Amino acid sequence: MTDAFFEIHSSLDREGPGDRDSLDWALELARVPKDARILDAGCGPGADIAGLLHHAPEGHVTALDSHAPFIDAVRARHAGDSRVTAEVADMLAADGPFDLIWCAGAVYFAGVTEALTAWTPRLTGSKIVAFSQLAWKSSDRPTEAAAFWAEGYPPMTDRDGVLTQVQEAGYRIVAARFLPDAAWEAYYTPLGRRVAFLRSGEVPDDLAEALDAEEREMALWRAHRDAFGYLQVVATPE
Ligand SMILES: C[S@@+](CC[C@H](N)C(=O)[O-])C[C@H]1O[C@@H](n2cnc3c(N)ncnc32)[C@H](O)[C@@H]1O
Repeated sequence: MTDAFFEIHSSLDREGPGDRDSLDWALELARVPKDARILDAGCGPGADIAGLLHHAPEGHVTALDSHAPFIDAVRARHAGDSRVTAEVADMLAADGPFDLIWCAGAVYFAGVTEALTAWTPRLTGSKIVAFSQLAWKSSDRPTEAAAFWAEGYPPMTDRDGVLTQVQEAGYRIVAARFLPDAAWEAYYTPLGRRVAFLRSGEVPDDLAEALDAEEREMALWRAHRDAFGYLQVVATPE
């Protein structure tokens, strides 16, 4: 990621599609105990931590991200709350054990099968992994969207493909559904505002390029949201 990318993404509440309703959908299925130990894998600036703690009010969230400024944001957001530990670390190497591993929009860096396989020995108790992953919604793939994702995320597959990857890691699927549009708006509406704000100031070439890329991605989703989305999956090791 470039400096310009992080300038755009430095002050957002969340770093990918997701919202409280979609977290509640997964957590109601996960049925974690109120003292659950939870890993927020690839936590970004920590948008989901309050929701996770709502479902496990006597529990603990370990929030890991490889980008240090996001961890600073999590620490500021949850300062003084002993139920939250935030560290710069590889989410695949977390110690655990955890009742729940929550991973909003971050498994794609590692691959679904690879991430779930790495997490199996770190699960205990309710043993649930809940994640979201970019996927095609159907075989009808508009040329513009197919070209964008062929470059942006070549391994992108569809719902069945993601669910097969989950099963190849030795997991049973509890439930799966595509994130509703509101979850995308929870990310893209503030991102759109940030892009407009940065455009109103001095815009060096590298920033202009990064702003163009963000606008292309948002416009692509608005035009082709029926063709692709984030598949939200709740799964448990067999
Ligand atoms: C699309 S963002 C989602 C962030 C957050 N879950 C959210 O929904 O706002 C993906 C995050 O995963 C982090 N990430 C990617 N690979 C990682 C790894 N191996 N270990 C820790 N964090 C990782 C990135 O730094 C980034 O913050």
